Amino acid sequence: MKYNTEIKEKRVNAWIDQSILQIIARNVGTPVFIYSEERLLQNVQRMKDAAADAGIDKRTAFYVPFFPNSNPHLLKSFQRLGIGILLQLPAEYEILSRVGFDDFIVSTGHISDDDIKFWAGTGHPIFLSSLDEINYLLENCGQAAVNVRFDSLSSGKPGLKYSELAALSTMLKSRGRKLDCFELYCGSGNSVDSMIGVIEQLFMIFKTYFPDATSLNFAGGFGFDYEEKDEPRKHFDWDQYFAGLAEIAERYNIPRHIKFLFEPARDILADVGVLLLRVERKMITHPGARRVLTNGSRVLMPSAQYKERHHNVLFLDANMAEIRSNRVGASLRGRSILRHDYILPGEYLVPECIGPRDHVLILDVGAYCATQHMEFLNIPPAAEVLVDQEGAAFLVTSHGDKFDKWRYLLPDRNALTDS
Ligand SMILES: Cc1ncc(COP(=O)(O)O)c(C=O)c1O
Repeated sequence: MKYNTEIKEKRVNAWIDQSILQIIARNVGTPVFIYSEERLLQNVQRMKDAAADAGIDKRTAFYVPFFPNSNPHLLKSFQRLGIGILLQLPAEYEILSRVGFDDFIVSTGHISDDDIKFWAGTGHPIFLSSLDEINYLLENCGQAAVNVRFDSLSSGKPGLKYSELAALSTMLKSRGRKLDCFELYCGSGNSVDSMIGVIEQLFMIFKTYFPDATSLNFAGGFGFDYEEKDEPRKHFDWDQYFAGLAEIAERYNIPRHIKFLFEPARDILADVGVLLLRVERKMITHPGARRVLTNGSRVLMPSAQYKERHHNVLFLDANMAEIRSNRVGASLRGRSILRHDYILPGEYLVPECIGPRDHVLILDVGAYCATQHMEFLNIPPAAEVLVDQEGAAFLVTSHGDKFDKWRYLLPDRNALTDS
């Protein structure tokens, strides 16, 4: 199915139109995550253009983490765009290698010796998070490059703390080894100003402790504004950030051969996805409370709940046209028994006339949503559809089976013996 100019007039947001929603609802059903390849390309281009404008494009490399959106069909175009992938589990490496990806960095939490050996064997840079793990690599993995992850927040996240930098420097010197690259992750959703602040910290660490490093990794954390309605303004200001980076690099005399790595997820992926749900009943009204029953559930995207994230939401009729009638405050319920089963936290302004055959379209769910589906409450995962650059829609993940939760259940008990 292709867009045409007549259809484009009926867009319900910048990249999705009525007719594609109709086709998807008819062929796939709901709940369904829908992704736009076109939007993904635009987001990458925005970032790359900003790097070029700041004159640092030749020394930048981007590695988008796989865990916030783990659909290889969506990420496929990264291969031709020269965008790498950040991995954290061996299974991710295997599944992506099978479909032709080969540009990886690895940034894990704390991992076992066996996992360190596994990753060292792949030859991809692996960012380790403790002195003990680095020690194991030095002693057991030949000349494998040494890359380290710092936790600037002292937040308990995996990563070396500032107070361990001197010890790491001494450990490397005593073995005649150098640090290849280090990564500083400062938590998610940061403003341009605070991300620019981090640049100086990174350069200070480089100059003070690891002047032989060949690249510096600024990790992720580039803010995306979920509540903003204007699409470009939702995004991190890469122009300002890269201009700041170029200026600070000059000021700190950072040699030109030093590469800059980035691991953005949210900014690249969030507005690439929407979640389409069906409304199951007319508005449920109790004294002091109104609820809209959807066929979604908080388990489809739990991060919205625990991050208390407000998403922009559209209410669509059976023909996928936006319902513009009188609105009242109501909460958006999921289909399970759980008291807190709201697909999004808080109240939304909902058309009072909403009812069966209508739909809820949740925007900006391309990152940390489908991949976070939990099995709690026995609700199967949602399907995923990719709309490609030409406007053709493809089913890329089928709906979870209604018996998914029990897929490993054995028909009979297997007795365990000590033989
Ligand atoms: C090491 C690392 N890099 C990158 C990211 C992506 O961050 P964001 O989605 O804020 O860009 C994360 C997110 O948790 C991370 O842990």
